Amino acid sequence: MSTFQAPKGTYDLLPPDSATYLAVREAIAGPLKNSGYGYIETPGFENVELFARGVGESTDIVTKEMYAFETKGGDRLALRPEGTASVLRAALEANLHKGGNLPVKLWYSGSYYRYERPQKGRYRHFSQVGAEAIGAEDPALDAELIILADQAYRSLGLRNFRILLNSLGDQECRPVYRAALQDFLRGLDLDDDTRRRVDINPLRVLDDKREYVQKQLTGAPMLRDYLCEACKAYHEQVRELLTAAGVAFEDDEKLVRGLDYYTRTTFEFVHDGLGSQSAVGGGGRYDGLSEMIGGPALPSVGWALGVDRTVLALEAEGIALDIPAATSVYAVPLGDEARRVLFGAVTELRRAGVATDFAYGGKGLKNAMKSANRSGARLALVAGERDLAEGVVQLKDLTSGEQTPVALDAVVDEVRRALG
Ligand code: HAM
Repeated sequence: MSTFQAPKGTYDLLPPDSATYLAVREAIAGPLKNSGYGYIETPGFENVELFARGVGESTDIVTKEMYAFETKGGDRLALRPEGTASVLRAALEANLHKGGNLPVKLWYSGSYYRYERPQKGRYRHFSQVGAEAIGAEDPALDAELIILADQAYRSLGLRNFRILLNSLGDQECRPVYRAALQDFLRGLDLDDDTRRRVDINPLRVLDDKREYVQKQLTGAPMLRDYLCEACKAYHEQVRELLTAAGVAFEDDEKLVRGLDYYTRTTFEFVHDGLGSQSAVGGGGRYDGLSEMIGGPALPSVGWALGVDRTVLALEAEGIALDIPAATSVYAVPLGDEARRVLFGAVTELRRAGVATDFAYGGKGLKNAMKSANRSGARLALVAGERDLAEGVVQLKDLTSGEQTPVALDAVVDEVRRALG
């Protein structure tokens, strides 16, 4: 152990478990790559104002959880707490929205940072794979994204997740609802913090998990009753498309989400085996975000799925992904000459695409064979001076223990044949 430890709220991804994380990222990315989404990567930090304006001045993310700092040059930056604002900023900066090919469909995968109170499933550094479809108002696009997330979770074998769906209305109907909700909430017995929230972001109060708040919310005006005709029709189409695709969802009129940019469609994927950090992913439409960060009107929709929580969901369902062993062949040289010759064979095998590793560090036979078994390899290539004198190496099947000599110049072919 060194003097140092991973910072609070973070953890290291180590083999062999790290392979599951990679597989989860790939499983989420797969359906996106197959549906016209191109890969985008943006910096790990941005101008702090981008998140303040985009995610919202009144959100927990911006007021409490952002890693904001000033650089030596005097720039105010923040480690990215989420991906949507950055991706939209990058798309606008590169004029991806110009040229008539809308929506711009992008996917991303990376690290995000929130100064949260750490607990299982809630970290200060975490991973998301996300997707954003920028510049089109079309219920089929909202449905597409939800269907692709559902497909990704199912491809991993997950079953105990639910899709919660809501509409938050638009700039026409939401302000009317907001005012009605504020009127109602101001009549309740709430603590100072919550009363402040009523002024700044009343919809978030609906999401308050505390029982004394929830109890008083019976009879609160619901957004559903205030949605304008256009929002209602839009939402109905999203629902119909999901139903037609056989994707089950639950209408959840209290689903608000913790970011301010949402309009109309919002959704969350929750897993029932994760306790309080049950949201494995979430997203929605953000038709006004582009204008909020100085761009043109670009109605858009997207989601981000949490990789850490998806891995926890797999554990909760007892799912072990079928991850092939990293190494197929392990080479064990006995002596200096064998080391030179086998190292050559290893290079050749790798160039032929066979996952191969080598017993480095001049290990004895016993230790080297232990390493071979630990590597998960199916075959070992063993050679000593006598083998070399005969122009062969021993090809050992590590499952059956069976050993056959193969000619040095036929190693690649024989290994391929043995691996099937
Ligand atoms: P979000 O709901 O804040 O949305 O995060 C999405 C997912 O990231 C969550 O459902 C969760 O799985 C994971 N996550 C968030 N915070 C943590 C944490 N502290 N520790 C572990 N996992 C975490 C967004 O970030 C939006 N940008 C999604 C979006 C994309 N909306 C439109 N486009």
